[in-house]
Amino acid sequence: MKALVLAGGAGTRLRPITHTSAKQLVPVANKPILFYGLEQIRDAGITDIGIIVGDTAAEIEAAIGDGSELGIRATYIPQPEPLGLAHAVLTGADFLGDDDFVMFLGDNLIEGGITELVQSFQEHHPDAQILLKPVADPERFGVAELDADDNIVRLVEKPKDPPSNLALVGVYLFTSKIIEASRRIEPSGRGELEITDAIQRLIDDGGSVRSSKVTGWWLDTGKKDELLEANRIVLGTLEARVEGAVDDQSQVVGQVVIEAGAELVNSTVRGPAIIGRDTRLVDTYVGPFTSIAAECVIERTEIEHSVVLERCVVRDIPRIEGSLLGRDVEIGRAASKPQAYRFMLGDHSQVGV
Ligand code: G1P
Repeated sequence: MKALVLAGGAGTRLRPITHTSAKQLVPVANKPILFYGLEQIRDAGITDIGIIVGDTAAEIEAAIGDGSELGIRATYIPQPEPLGLAHAVLTGADFLGDDDFVMFLGDNLIEGGITELVQSFQEHHPDAQILLKPVADPERFGVAELDADDNIVRLVEKPKDPPSNLALVGVYLFTSKIIEASRRIEPSGRGELEITDAIQRLIDDGGSVRSSKVTGWWLDTGKKDELLEANRIVLGTLEARVEGAVDDQSQVVGQVVIEAGAELVNSTVRGPAIIGRDTRLVDTYVGPFTSIAAECVIERTEIEHSVVLERCVVRDIPRIEGSLLGRDVEIGRAASKPQAYRFMLGDHSQVGV
């Protein structure tokens, strides 16, 4: 079996972070979201992975390389335009050949991996197997309608009037029949070849499509609050480890990772939290559900339930909550009068004071 991992797309809902960074590389607990998916695919025994890339191809390739560090073999497949998930399947057709494959959206995370799912697919060998999860806002997703015996009646992409609350999760198992089905659909209202429509085409052609429900958490990290939620959940799975320097005036409480080279000076970190390599905390409180990446400096600040990317400098901010700071962000208090908020914000920034 092979895997097709989708790592293109513009990431408009995570701007301004995605002006300079691929959405799949935004870290959760200091590790790019995409890496969790690649590791789950590898752990299910699949190492031949085609990665669909778009405008951010260079950055994705720089992060994954040939894949050997992750124990996979990565093949990069450029998708000239983001024309939908079924279009991505067609783009990957040469790489996929006649093989069965897992399709995994690079900004999705599911609890517990995909090993059992792959095994059940291999055992029953339907033409396609989809994963479903009840959600509060099904109109934002592909939605499945099931009959009383849980057979799929129909699948619809982003319906205004959803037939159920069962969303299609961004992890699919396919035989090569999906390639032919993807050739036989028309673009949707948003101008994309929808994978949901391609699976519906398989069903209409008499193909067998199985579904199973995700029992653990599923996270689609396309927006800030979803990313913070993913960070909260994944931090809860880390094992505590302190490799950096913690001075006598500092405290580390609960499930906390302090990476090598990090330094706590008169500071408290209350887990679950992670402090990246060579980051320095001075007179600072880091509260639960916070990831601070490498090489940051945080002084005289309280921060909680937030994600801070590499090389940020934050000084003298009494309280930060529910925030996502991109790379190399600087936030501080004006030293001289008049004391006022002074901003230099990228396009699509959001500030709440
Ligand atoms: C895509 C699929 C949708 C699926 C979702 C899962 O939506 O089209 O059917 O439910 O991924 O994340 P998109 O992220 O393109 O809006």
